[in-house]
Amino acid sequence: MLVNIADASVLLKQNKVVAFPTETVYGLGGNALSDDAVQSIFTIKGRPANNPLIIHFNSVAQALNYCELDPRALKLISILWPGPLTIVAIKKKEAKISSFASAGLDTIAVRYPDHAIAQKLLSGLNFPLAAPSANISGSISPTSAVHVSDSFGGSVPVIDGGKANIGLESTIIDLTSQSPVILRYGFITPEVIVKIINQEVNTENNISILKAPGMMDKHYAPSCNLRVNASKAFSDEVVLNFGRSNLEGAFSYNLSPTSNINEAATNLFAFMRQAEKVVLWNKLKGIVIAPIPNIGIGLAINDRISRAAFN
Ligand code: TXA
Ligand code: MG
Repeated sequence: MLVNIADASVLLKQNKVVAFPTETVYGLGGNALSDDAVQSIFTIKGRPANNPLIIHFNSVAQALNYCELDPRALKLISILWPGPLTIVAIKKKEAKISSFASAGLDTIAVRYPDHAIAQKLLSGLNFPLAAPSANISGSISPTSAVHVSDSFGGSVPVIDGGKANIGLESTIIDLTSQSPVILRYGFITPEVIVKIINQEVNTENNISILKAPGMMDKHYAPSCNLRVNASKAFSDEVVLNFGRSNLEGAFSYNLSPTSNINEAATNLFAFMRQAEKVVLWNKLKGIVIAPIPNIGIGLAINDRISRAAFN
């Protein structure tokens, strides 16, 4: 069901949930201070209760009411907010964020999205929005309003903001300890962060503890078989090529014919959803993706598709 910003605002004030666009992917938003609203989000998504939600704010000032942002965080956000960077920070003791949203942790993941509709919506509310990606837990994130309806069968109100610009979820950096840890790759690369804070960062691949509970091995997954980094395709597969790769399957698409890695990121989830449908309709074996360069947002693309292909 499509709604406008005013309707969405009324629903959110009643502690109902609404899906809304951001520059990364669509979020399933609810009042982060309300246990009812937050629990509805978990129920609708089928999300495990131990996987905390990102809290979305309308300004740096609002975020500062809820968490402690150290000098490194303040430096990052002075340059990168609003934008696709989520910071895990210590929750303020007096912050009334629902403990379900933070899965009982004393930290919260905070984000100020760079999207006119998201900002207008958040600015009309006197509470932040808890908002995970608006898809069934573990499946492909939505980059359009139609994807949201496809995920929830039209029962969830959604504000249509067109196609998401970036197309992959925000970069997450944990700044709760002395050594920063990238918990999820995104548009903001580790190099950009290192340059701004002038400190090395760890990536989740080289830390042993799983610090972002949602980053389980299998995620972002289509319902069919998926192979990645492929040098050959079979006649019963749907191919997602990149640039000059020219794998031929039953059907072939190209994430970016001009080898533009940002374009490939924007298209990835929409093309995976489309390819999944084509596989099901034509009773094919699965999807195959050509090699994607591991540079810039390519790190995030490879992270997502390798989790999607995980068995
Ligand atoms: O781009 C995005 O970040 C989108 C849009 C809607 O803003 N949201 C999004 O949310 O991707 P979600 O729920 O799909 O991913 C949130 C991730 C999960 O991996 C979760 O474990 C992690 O953030 N997270 C949330 N709170 C955390 C915390 N306190 N400590 C560590 N990780 C946390
Ligand atoms: Mg998600």
